[in-house]
Amino acid sequence: MQFIDLKSQYAQYRGGDDGIDARMQAVLDHGRYIMGPEIAEMEQALAERTGVAHCISCASGTDALYLPMLALDIGAGDEVITVPFTFIATAEIIRLMGATPIFIDVDPLTYNMDASQLEAAITERTKAIIPVSLYGQAPDMEAINAIANRHGIPVLEDAAQSYGATQNGRASGGLSTVGCTSFFPSKPLGCYGDGGAVFCDDDELAKVMRELRAHGQEKRYVHSRIGMNARMDTLQAAVILGKLPHFDAEIEARQRLGARYSQELGSIAKVPTIATGNTHVYGQYTLQVEDRDGLRAALLEAGIPTAVHYPRPLHLQQAFEDLGGKVGDFPVSEEASKHVVSLPMSPFLTESDQDRVIEAVRKALTA
Ligand SMILES: Cc1ncc(COP(=O)(O)O)c(C=O)c1O
Repeated sequence: MQFIDLKSQYAQYRGGDDGIDARMQAVLDHGRYIMGPEIAEMEQALAERTGVAHCISCASGTDALYLPMLALDIGAGDEVITVPFTFIATAEIIRLMGATPIFIDVDPLTYNMDASQLEAAITERTKAIIPVSLYGQAPDMEAINAIANRHGIPVLEDAAQSYGATQNGRASGGLSTVGCTSFFPSKPLGCYGDGGAVFCDDDELAKVMRELRAHGQEKRYVHSRIGMNARMDTLQAAVILGKLPHFDAEIEARQRLGARYSQELGSIAKVPTIATGNTHVYGQYTLQVEDRDGLRAALLEAGIPTAVHYPRPLHLQQAFEDLGGKVGDFPVSEEASKHVVSLPMSPFLTESDQDRVIEAVRKALTA
């Protein structure tokens, strides 16, 4: 059994006039590998899906965080508020800009930014807030946006794991000033390499981010600002276009499988809590259990792969040592990092394989 079944996905979507193979062949035929027409076609489709004016594709989810940080001119002396219970890219990019990540803890039920801690963390140096939509559902963006708006601070949603999820009917990625997502292959909408996208409504911000993505270039060899190369390549856009017609069905499958896991395991493990107003895409299906190592060993024995997202919160990582974080600073994140474990999840997980996982988890936890 695979943790994420990308092979079955490709086998199912490769054929047909609009399939992945035909889409990629079209790129090989026209040869516009960089910024070919598939890029604009994909950006338009994704902007519409996300309910925003602009989608700017880029080379990875990390670049999707980098571009708005550059556009907002965040640097030395600035503070950016985020959570320590996330993938390192979220806070790494803050540090890379020379700014200081200010961590606040997560909510124990959703593992997302605890909005009640936000106001107290804001100072006159706060230049942005980056809530993370961890595992596939958004934090309380209404509360976060309301506080941020009062202080005139932009909110960048790290929607790397939650593309396809909604909050009060609005798409994750389109819930704040800027939304940033990743098309890493294992993400809810993955390409077959690295890729990402930034979403926003603000025309000026979008223009700046588009330029930054290609060396600050306003038009060919006219550079209005210092930028970088953060372009997504055309072949990856072709993969996304080949997958997009199936995306809604994939989200449904994820939700059906997630609900089934929760139904079957809810009495013996802490299963995901879906916050009111949210839909969840289970970018990861993550349990919390007392004896994680024991469960992982039992599942491994049964041929079932698991993963831990994430075993060490960022304030305890050597890379952030200079911030002076210590054990006890963020108890919810620390507790979660000791007990969370993610089970196999993808739209192509069969019910019989899922039954095997459920059976093995039950056996291990009730032994
Ligand atoms: C929460 C979060 N933020 C950012 C990223 C970075 O995305 P990428 O790997 O595409 O650079 C990831 C993906 O791994 C992620 O899970």
